[in-house]
Amino acid sequence: MSLIDNLRGEARRAPVSGIEAVANYGRDRKGLIPLWSGESDRATPDFINAAAKRGLDAGETFYTWQGGIPELRQSLARYHERHFGLKFSPDEFLVTIGGMQAIVLAIEATAGAGDEAIYLEPAWPNFAGAAGVAGATPVPVALTEGANGWYCDIDRVKAAVTPRTKVMFVNTPANPTGWTADIETLKSLLDLSRRHGTWIIADEIYALFHYNGQRAPSFMDIMEPEDRILFVNTFSKNWAMTGWRVGWMKTHPSLERTFENLIQYSSSGVAQFLQRGAIAALDEGDDFLAAQITQAKASRDLICRKLADTGRVRFSVPPGAFYLFFKVDGMKDSTKAAFEIVDKALVGLAPGVAFGQAGEGYLRLCFHRKLEDVEEAADRLAKWIGKL
Ligand SMILES: Cc1ncc(COP(=O)(O)O)c(C=O)c1O
Repeated sequence: MSLIDNLRGEARRAPVSGIEAVANYGRDRKGLIPLWSGESDRATPDFINAAAKRGLDAGETFYTWQGGIPELRQSLARYHERHFGLKFSPDEFLVTIGGMQAIVLAIEATAGAGDEAIYLEPAWPNFAGAAGVAGATPVPVALTEGANGWYCDIDRVKAAVTPRTKVMFVNTPANPTGWTADIETLKSLLDLSRRHGTWIIADEIYALFHYNGQRAPSFMDIMEPEDRILFVNTFSKNWAMTGWRVGWMKTHPSLERTFENLIQYSSSGVAQFLQRGAIAALDEGDDFLAAQITQAKASRDLICRKLADTGRVRFSVPPGAFYLFFKVDGMKDSTKAAFEIVDKALVGLAPGVAFGQAGEGYLRLCFHRKLEDVEEAADRLAKWIGKL
């Protein structure tokens, strides 16, 4: 018996990320334009770095509050008040190691062995991965791509609910499709949660990357305080801080102690000096964020125009997030295509199948990069498509 056979099945079965497989293959290619992962090419702005450095210089290198330093939790409450127009209190917020730890804690708290966790596919793979590691069974429900873009057929979600369903993961605007739930869809999902006692893990991390001039509709617009909704969020995308690994949860204040305990037994908290940078992002970062959104919109419009011009690419223009999820006429196997595009076009894309079977036949491109790169990538892709 090998060592690996002695590990828990949930750990052994944790799937390899299909995005990483292509990225590992192409990472070192000279001149490659990497559009496979969900981040911009912009390093964290100086005003955020400076705040973290001040914390470090002041000796903030000790153990700290499990749920986050009080000043950051106050900033989070203010940030939510600005963007959601409601009152929030600092004890609704818990600081986590990126959005990913928030997701892990939310699942740990709601589903385990014998339970089912619904998610909408194509989906960012980490939700199903984390649910599986927690011992729960991830249950995909396919989104549909119609003439007016992606939508969620609520009857399909209803049909997937069983007595074992403990949690539904709702990511809107969505990675990878850009699907953005309208308020009616959010109401139907909330109604389902109320009727079946199912938790919702609301991943609205791209809520501000929404291109009609307003943030995306949110469960916060329609929920009551006692609804079973756990929000997961992150500093990664809004303020170019993917490598910092700082995020947050928003919960009901009555859950504060429980989540602090879960943090204690996983990471025991987030480095205090990093939290100083996070405060600067929230309190001084609105202009930076607005500029990021403007740039992402310009890149979206450019890539959509250039790929549509080939006459062989099919997609729904994403109303939110910063990914284009597209099909190329004649292309079937997305993994094979993604490897070939590394070799022949020197562009890094994520294969659609990495987002579940509902994503096979698609490729995902992150357009949140400077325009010149997006334009060059589009030209290289157009050339590759021309030779198919
Ligand atoms: C939908 C979604 N949720 C959560 C995350 C996690 O973000 P973080 O980098 O903070 O762990 C990502 C990152 O790509 C994402 O796309």
